[in-house]
Formats: sequence, C-alpha cells, structure tokens
Amino acid sequence: MPTLKPHGLALLALLTVAGGAAAQEVPAWSFAIHGGAGTIERASLTPEQDAAYRVSLARALEAGAAVLRDGGAALDAVQAAVELMEDDPLFNAGRGAVFTAAGTNELDAAVMNGTDRSAGAVAGLITTRHPIAAARAVMEQSPHVMLIGPGADTFAASLGLEQVPPSFFFTQRRWDQLIRVLTEQGRPTPLPPAGAPGSPLGMAATAPAPPLDERKFGTVGAVARDSRGHLAAGTSTGGTTGKRPGRVGDVPVIGAGTYASNADGCAVSATGDGEFYIRATVARDICARIAAGQTARAAAQAEVDDALSLGGYGGVVVMDTRGQPAFALTTPGMYRGGVTADAAASVAIYADEE
Ligand code: GLY
Repeated sequence: MPTLKPHGLALLALLTVAGGAAAQEVPAWSFAIHGGAGTIERASLTPEQDAAYRVSLARALEAGAAVLRDGGAALDAVQAAVELMEDDPLFNAGRGAVFTAAGTNELDAAVMNGTDRSAGAVAGLITTRHPIAAARAVMEQSPHVMLIGPGADTFAASLGLEQVPPSFFFTQRRWDQLIRVLTEQGRPTPLPPAGAPGSPLGMAATAPAPPLDERKFGTVGAVARDSRGHLAAGTSTGGTTGKRPGRVGDVPVIGAGTYASNADGCAVSATGDGEFYIRATVARDICARIAAGQTARAAAQAEVDDALSLGGYGGVVVMDTRGQPAFALTTPGMYRGGVTADAAASVAIYADEE
C-alpha cells in the first residue's frame, strides 16, 4: 500500500519543467474517490472518527489503485473501490445507507464507461448487496440504461449478484439519525426493519445528536483513468435521510451525479443535494466545460456553484484525460482522496485541506 499522506491533495498535481515551460506529467494511471460531502467539520468528528474515515478512504483508494497498477480497466477500478465503500458502514451507500421515512433502505447507483459512453443505473434497490455491480450489469448485460425497484433487484439476482435481507443494510447510527430527523420534523417514526437489532424507538426524542451530521449529502463515488487512457465513473448512495419511499436522487441520473466521456476528457462522480444536482445537470456540464477548454478544477467549481445557486450543496470529484483529479465542494467537508502511478495516496476530509 502506498504511503498515506493525510493532507495535501495538491501532491497529486505533478509539475515538471519541460523545455523551459511548465508542463504537467501524465501519470500512467490515476484514481480518485469521494465518500460524501456535508456538514463535516473538525469539531463534529472525534480524533477516532477522523482517523477511521481516513483509513477507510485509504483502503478504497488502494482497491482501485491495485486494479490500475496491474494494468486493469478504469471501470474495474471504480467498481472495486465503490464495492468496498458499499460494504463499509461509515458511508451512506450499501451497508450504512440512510433510511427512508418508512424505515427502509432504497439504494441508487450508476456507472459510466468513457470509452463508448455506455452507462448503467439502478434506483430503489432493497436486496442487492452491491448496487454498483447491479448498475454495471444493467450497462453490460441489458439493452437498458436504468432499472428501478423490484425489477432491478430481480435482474441483479438473475445474474447471480448477491442478494441480502433488508436488515443487512441496517446500522444503528443511521437508524438513530432517521428517528431524530423525523422527530424534529414532527413526522411519524416507523418500526425498524424485520431482523434489525434492538429498536431505538422511544429514546429518540431525548437522545443526544449523533456525532456526525450528514443528513443530506452522503454518497460514495470514484473516477479513474487507466493506463490505456480510458476514463470511467461510478457512484452509489442510500440517498437522503427520511426521503419519501420511491424518491430518486442525482446518482443514477446519467449526466447529473455520474458521467464519463473519453471524447470530452472527463469523468465525474457527484455527492450533493440530489434534487438540485439533477436540475443543474452537474456531471454532464462539467464534462462540457472541460471539452470546451476549462480546467477540471474550474469546471468542477463552476458547476457546484451553479447547483448552489439553485439551493443545493455538495461536491464532485473529477478526472481529466491527463489523469489530474480535481475536487470541488460547497460544504464544510467532503471525504475524498486520490492516488496516481506517480504519487502516493492522499486523503482529505475538511474543505481547507487542499
Ligand atoms: N446525492 C445523493 C442523493 O441526493 O441521493
């Protein structure tokens, strides 16, 4: 595993002097991830929580890097890292996903292959362990781009993708978060899913606030450029705490939360206030800006600012055709990290860590 440098994503930008003029080296491969943006401040994380997130981010980075280091495809690297984060209860995706107002987990995911702009997405999964794998199966093994609800789970199961009981996704932390949000809003609180551990009902109204306040923006995602120069993006989420059952956010909407195009020289995964990221078509617009000549960083900032102008907070991770990752956020923090063939893994949490 590469040396983990917890601060300074600027390390990823390799600047060399060639022929007297500054030029960017193109690493053989490059990989970047996010684990959600939101109200994530130093005061809201204990040192232990801060460290736990950094370890999880580093592990996910290494999962993608291992694929790319071996000459693997950008898409495989994206899937490897996202699957790991889907299994990590720290993140709002897969196990650890937030709950709907009905006390269920409804999972959304998407992947896009920049090589041919093929894409696959799923929404409202309730039994598929790895929504990102289901999204990829839609892309590669169906004539469709998006499948939803029970039909999507059935499709995934028919291809042998692991199915789990809904209680698999239950975490006490997310359940407490749901009860607190619903109680604050004066909405009815549901019963926990069958098979879930002990119910917190009855203590929610007086329980202290959970240590992490990420009500809206948790999501995980990855972008990669492989050694053939191909780009890919993938994103996975449980959506928003207390969402209405059936609600779909930006993640599986191709062009909103996820987009990749070799031709544009761009791959994007977003984590934001989904309704606004859909309206701002954030991911596609970032790629259009890059194709028009903007830097990834400028394009990313312009689009998260555009979403913010509509009222939506969040962030994005972007990979350009030269393997330079860029991050932009309009929240106090975003779990994120990057690694290239030439630069050690680097992770960050707070907005000022660049
Ligand atoms: N960005 C995640 C969601 O709104 O569902």
